[in-house]
Amino acid sequence: MKLTIQQLLETMWQDYLALTPDAKPIHQLFANLNEGTVVNDHIALRTFNLDKVSLDKIARPFVEAGYQEKDDYQFPAKKLYARYFQHPDYTLPKVFISELKVAELPDNCQKIIHSLVAQVSENLVDQQTFCCSGRPWQLNTDDYQALAAESEYASWVAAHGFRPNHFTVSINHLHSHNDIHSLNQLLLDNSYALNSSGGLVKGSPEVLLEQSSTLAKEIEVNFDDGVLAIPGCYYEFARRYPMADGQLYQGFVAASADKIFESTDASRET
Ligand code: NI
Repeated sequence: MKLTIQQLLETMWQDYLALTPDAKPIHQLFANLNEGTVVNDHIALRTFNLDKVSLDKIARPFVEAGYQEKDDYQFPAKKLYARYFQHPDYTLPKVFISELKVAELPDNCQKIIHSLVAQVSENLVDQQTFCCSGRPWQLNTDDYQALAAESEYASWVAAHGFRPNHFTVSINHLHSHNDIHSLNQLLLDNSYALNSSGGLVKGSPEVLLEQSSTLAKEIEVNFDDGVLAIPGCYYEFARRYPMADGQLYQGFVAASADKIFESTDASRET
């Protein structure tokens, strides 16, 4: 049975909550201050750029639901390519999908990633809920650590599989806060850890987008040979500014997203 886009987004939200202990209380915090309404600006998804599980495969159910391809972005230092998708119904969140350029990693990492993706069945990829289906492969802690040493992003996808990486509170739709600094302060006052890589606020009114995010809390994940506590997912906050035509800017800013990716880095606190 095919899910409506709203049902798919709700399935993704429930899957995300399981990996993000901070998300539900933060959502509730803003819901309480805003008559129960918190608008989601975008959802981010991650994958490898191998054909079987590529960005385009992740995007398919969204495109089938009417989402349209928008701008794309390069993150050379992190070996990532990304594109976002937007629905003509602007009440639906944008979907930001990134993929790791596997061929740019050292041979040992490429070998591990190819062996993981080889375990994925085409049938699974064709499922509408593939993007929130979890980890479809066996993985041991040595391979996880080998990937983490080269790419935090690679190790995150290897450990968690296909799951939303973050949801994003739209500050523009909040009545309680109209600036990102006071919103960050509220989160800090409530003892939530924020990503300070590149400063608490990424971007500026000049680039038409300001973003901040929590740091992904460590959660216990099962591997073939044991359990590790590793970063799960994070919650993001975005304020958009109007373009010359008065419409709110809907795109992303590569320099800011580059720092936001680090919200799931295990090494960030050292
Ligand atoms: Ni984001």
